[in-house]
Amino acid sequence: MANGNGARKLPGQLVTIERHILERQKLHPDATGDLTRILQDIALAGKLIASHTTQAGLAEVLGTTNEINVQGEEVQKLDEISNDILFRLNDHTGRLAAMVSEEASDILHIPDKYPTGKYVLSFDPLDGSSNIDYNVSVGTIFAIHRRKSPIGERGTLEDCTQKGRDIVAAGYILYGSSTMFVYSAGHSVNGFTLDPQIGEFILSHPDIKIPAKPKYFSANLGYQQHWSPGVQKFTGWVQGEDGGPELGLRYIGSMVADFHRTLLSGGIFYYPANIHDKKRPNGKLRLLYEVNPLSFIMEQAGGAASDGHQSPLDIQPNGLHHRTPFFVGNKELVAQAEKFIEQYG
Ligand code: AHG
Ligand code: MN
Ligand code: MN
Repeated sequence: MANGNGARKLPGQLVTIERHILERQKLHPDATGDLTRILQDIALAGKLIASHTTQAGLAEVLGTTNEINVQGEEVQKLDEISNDILFRLNDHTGRLAAMVSEEASDILHIPDKYPTGKYVLSFDPLDGSSNIDYNVSVGTIFAIHRRKSPIGERGTLEDCTQKGRDIVAAGYILYGSSTMFVYSAGHSVNGFTLDPQIGEFILSHPDIKIPAKPKYFSANLGYQQHWSPGVQKFTGWVQGEDGGPELGLRYIGSMVADFHRTLLSGGIFYYPANIHDKKRPNGKLRLLYEVNPLSFIMEQAGGAASDGHQSPLDIQPNGLHHRTPFFVGNKELVAQAEKFIEQYG
């Protein structure tokens, strides 16, 4: 917006992400500042990844590496670049006990030459990477836990496979028409937009709450024949059957973008079990670094998340890459999905 002089009008208070995180830290008098600095490191990783995604077509980073990851999926060059950026910005700080990444089959240990710290960072370095070649929004998703094993030792599998309920902070960075950092450390959800001219994330979406009136449902209807009768019934209901709300449909195929829209517009995103597909009996999404961080954010924003029966945050992960069906959005819609699944299977 311009004022009388043609200059850009600044909002009343200019809150950078650094200032915001530091002010939140003051709510915890015993905080050492480690969590604050991890969040800042992730924000920096986000800026670096954004600079790669925005130049993707120029810098020869489109396409695949010709490798298949632990998930059996093609690794895109940008998956690898993003994974490297996140690991290298966090491996030497002495703040982390270990890391978990979608792109690595095992725990990412802190190299022996560096000290370990008291937190564990799990991430999906680039979510929606099958969309990169088409210039569609992608994102980074992360969750932070406190370690369980003693400080000073290597992080363990137990440190890395904690329930979502014990998340200390989580968030995502969305590389869309603008780059946004959305996070919660448990008191509220706040969104920051990257001003590319000054290279700073500025608070643009304070205290995000999911709107009470849902607008869209979001799921890959191409797989509907693989869904259980309960999920099919729910899909009819959101479109107006049996007195359902008659929502519009939006599906990008980058969960982080589908989630962000659901959070701001109201509605539901779901990726159910594909019960007839041997490859995806539990759907596609991973508990530790996709489902749990977004469930945590949605609950903090007044919405709900479920695997069809219970909150994913209450599931004990059975490994680093545990997959689970996922429903996330307005409480009433998630409850209705659970109800149909209970009733019809
Ligand atoms: P990733 O790119 O990290 O492997 O995740 C992709 C996921 C998620 O972003 C999205 O919701 C889903 O894949 C889309 O899958 P479909 O193409 O099966 O709908
Ligand atoms: Mn993903
Ligand atoms: Mn990914």
